[in-house]
Amino acid sequence: MGAEVVVEGLTKSFGSQTIWRDVTLTLPPGEVSALLGPSGTGKSVFLKSMIGLLKPERGKCIINGIDIVSCSESQLYEVRKLFGVLFQDGALFGSMNLFDNVAFPLREHTKKSETEIRRNVLEKLEMTGLAGAERKLPGEISGGMRKRAGLARALVLEPEIILVDEPDSGLDPVRTTYISQLFLDVNAQIDATFLIVTHNINLARTVPDNIGMLFRKELVMFGPREVLLTSDEPVVKQFLNGRMDGPIGMSEEKDQATLAAEKAMFEAGHHAGGVEEITGVPKQMQPTPGLPPRAGDKRRTDRVMTMLHQLPPKAQQAIIDSLTDEQRQHYGVRSPAVVAAGRPTPRPRPQQPAGPAGDQPGVQRGQLPADQVARIPENRFSPRPPRGQGGGQ
Ligand SMILES: Nc1ncnc2c1ncn2[C@@H]1O[C@H](COP(=O)(O)OP(=O)(O)OP(=O)(O)O)[C@@H](O)[C@H]1O
Ligand SMILES: [Mg+2]
Repeated sequence: MGAEVVVEGLTKSFGSQTIWRDVTLTLPPGEVSALLGPSGTGKSVFLKSMIGLLKPERGKCIINGIDIVSCSESQLYEVRKLFGVLFQDGALFGSMNLFDNVAFPLREHTKKSETEIRRNVLEKLEMTGLAGAERKLPGEISGGMRKRAGLARALVLEPEIILVDEPDSGLDPVRTTYISQLFLDVNAQIDATFLIVTHNINLARTVPDNIGMLFRKELVMFGPREVLLTSDEPVVKQFLNGRMDGPIGMSEEKDQATLAAEKAMFEAGHHAGGVEEITGVPKQMQPTPGLPPRAGDKRRTDRVMTMLHQLPPKAQQAIIDSLTDEQRQHYGVRSPAVVAAGRPTPRPRPQQPAGPAGDQPGVQRGQLPADQVARIPENRFSPRPPRGQGGGQ
């Protein structure tokens, strides 16, 4: 099972410019999480902070008991080995063929023999649909293939945590869906913890188990996909619909005057962009038939059912709607309308005992504490109230 990543009160600035502050979230082990946010909100900075390439000023990022913000260089070196990172452009070496590119981390960081390296590299190339292309140079293949080669390279050190920055950049919608499928397939096979940073609405709506969003220097939300996808928060709705009308502007977040002027323009009939109002929670993509089911998916359902009563009603309903008959029976859910009808929410079955990181009895490893779920600043135009007062909704 992949590692859990616990981020607490993380704050990052460059000089006097705060990028984000007080970010708190837990990436549950082996689950796929996505981080959304308008350009420039610091998503890439967040990924770089997680692997210790950038140093946040405050807060913690704990992986296997080690806080990578305050640990020693040698500890950081060890923790980094847990990560596989897929950068935006694949970050391949242009003069090396795909085989050597993918073999690079093994030759740098391990003492494996060339025979072992060959077996590992060919296996990862096969996994990412690149069998037969190992002698090609990065300049000779398409953007989609470069991404997959980047993923193959991220996989060779058997990572427990895979970070992906903008997997769709430079890819058409179909290839983006194929690479999304690949992430879920890899997750099913190695149960690694994923964090995918993306602007892509389709991917955000159909791939991750959990979604977070950065906006106005804060983590607006982080929680099960159903929470964000059913949210009435204007910034979330605007982002998921890709429209101009809403708090997000072209260069930076809009002020009230701009908002009012634009509102008048859209009310007068100007097209706000976006294809249509997208609402609801679409089905989540699954691993390709023939692969094992995702262990992270099963753990997530257990986890989400444990915290169901803490979630907003629309998210509760979406989660219940997504359960199979068998799951309904297992969790003691009587009918899909149970929440809508205002009846008490189902009581989950007792869960596995807490893992080493669980700090309360009955709290599973990786479970998000209530105050991290759907935490929305009461007033988005002013700083969030001190911790402990914001509360879940
Ligand atoms: N090394 C750095 N030094 C100073 N400022 C930086 C550095 N790296 C990033 N920034 C600033 O941090 C902010 C966030 O950048 P980041 O690249 O993380 O945004 P992003 O959310 O990934 O945007 P996009 O969606 O466009 O990729 C930007 O204002 C950027 O200029
Ligand atoms: Mg970025």
